[in-house]
Order: sequence, then structure tokens, then C-alpha cells
Amino acid sequence: MGKFDLIRTDWKKLESEETDQMKKMERPALFKEIPDNAVLIDLIPYGKIKIGNKPLLETIYDRRSKRSGSDQPLTLEELSYLLFCTNGVKNQARPMFRTVPSAGARHAIETYLQVERVETLKKGVYRYLPLTHQLVYLKEGSLNEAIEGFLGQNFNADVMFFWTAVPYRMQYRYGSASEKLILLDAGHVCQNLYLACDAIGLGACAIGAYDQEKLDWYLELDTEKEVVIYNATVVK
Ligand SMILES: Cc1cc2nc3c(=O)[nH]c(=O)nc-3n(C[C@H](O)[C@H](O)[C@H](O)COP(=O)(O)O)c2cc1C
Repeated sequence: MGKFDLIRTDWKKLESEETDQMKKMERPALFKEIPDNAVLIDLIPYGKIKIGNKPLLETIYDRRSKRSGSDQPLTLEELSYLLFCTNGVKNQARPMFRTVPSAGARHAIETYLQVERVETLKKGVYRYLPLTHQLVYLKEGSLNEAIEGFLGQNFNADVMFFWTAVPYRMQYRYGSASEKLILLDAGHVCQNLYLACDAIGLGACAIGAYDQEKLDWYLELDTEKEVVIYNATVVK
């Protein structure tokens, strides 16, 4: 116990690794493909969002993990705000630069949602499309089904965020350092969710304890290419 190779990345050794980028292999796509005949939902764009004027210092001070809330639904504007703050693309011509930092601007993290209570959205599983600031509807589902993947934890959520990693996006450039870098990226994403929630009167709670197989299965992931790495609940 006490030894942790993931933390003790040896960058000198990594310099001698020949990554796929060095081999000039084709660069992996920055975004997942959108399924054929997908139902796309436009979110409220950055310039039209009117909420979230709380001072940053107060937001940081007030942030707490909140595991239950009211039974009021989130508005689409609130959800748009959270998605933009946690993975939004600021300029479509430069999609590698977002509201969150990412090692080498590789952005290996994807955002899935279990929507329970959001005005104008039907209950179900969605994926965020950062480039166009849209949601793609994936399938029916409910938190009751997903919750089996949370090891008996008892929490409430109007929206559950699931963050997955597409490791090859990072491995292409950073080889064996990628796992660590992806996990560091995930911390930024979740912290932005916490602060964004507080800034608009919502509550978030990070959920790191989950059943890997059950959540990967719930989101129907091809686990050779993509796996759940982190989650969070959002309540109003
Ligand atoms: C990486 C990480 C994983 C966490 N996993 C869980 C979890 O599985 N379940 C839970 O109820 N809270 C979880 N939390 C929330 C912590 O319990 C919480 O941050 C901690 O108790 C401090 O409280 P605060 O966030 O209100 O300051 C997690 C937090 C982090 C950062």
C-alpha cells in the first residue's frame, strides 16, 4: 500500500515513447459521431443566457455537495448553462478551446445525461454535443434504472451527469500518461459543474463510487473505446 504508479508519471520515460502522433498516424476525431436520424435539441446559446450573476468569490465560498432538492424541474436555460460551463465550445472554428482546460487540448471527456426533471425535455438519456451546443436524445431511461449502478447510494437528481472518457483521443498524443491526464481533466469539468450549479441556485454532488460495468452497460458504451469515469447529480 502507499505506492501509486498512476500519480508517479515518469515524463522522462514518456519522452522516449513513440506515440501515434509521433508516428504521424491519423488524428482521432475530437467528437463522437452523431447517430443516424438522431433527435437533436438546441440549447440556449452562451450569448442568450441571462442567469448566473453571482460573484465568483461568493460562489466558491457557498459551494457544497448537495444530495437532495425540491421537486421543481430545471429550466432548459439552467441546463444549457451547466453544459456550456462544463464543456462548452467558445468558438466553433477552434473547438479544442472550451470553458474547461484539457491536457494538450485533447478533450477526451464526453458528457451524458439522465434527464429526470427538465422543462420541455422528455425523461431519458442524452449526450451533449459541445460543438453545436445541442443535445442528442439517445434512449428512454430513468434514474431508477441507472441508480443500480451507484452501489446502493441514496441520492436524488433532476439531472444526472455521467462523464465518459474516450482514451484514444489522449493516448494519441500522451501515450501511457493519458489515464492520469484524463482524470485530471475530469476534476476540472466537475468543479465547473459545482460552481455553475451554485451560481444559479442549484446543487451538485460528485459521485465517484459506482459500478463500472453497470454504468457502461446503461449508457450502451463500446468499452473498448469509451468508459464512464465520473458522475454527478444536479438538484434544484
Ligand atoms: C472525486 C470525488 C468523488 C466523490 N464521490 C462521492 C460519492 O460517490 N458519493 C457521494 O455522496 N459523494 C461523493 N463525493 C462528494 C464528497 O463526499 C464531498 O465533496 C465531501 O464530503 C466534502 O463535502 P463538500 O463537497 O460539501 O465540501 C465525491 C467527491 C469527489 C471530489
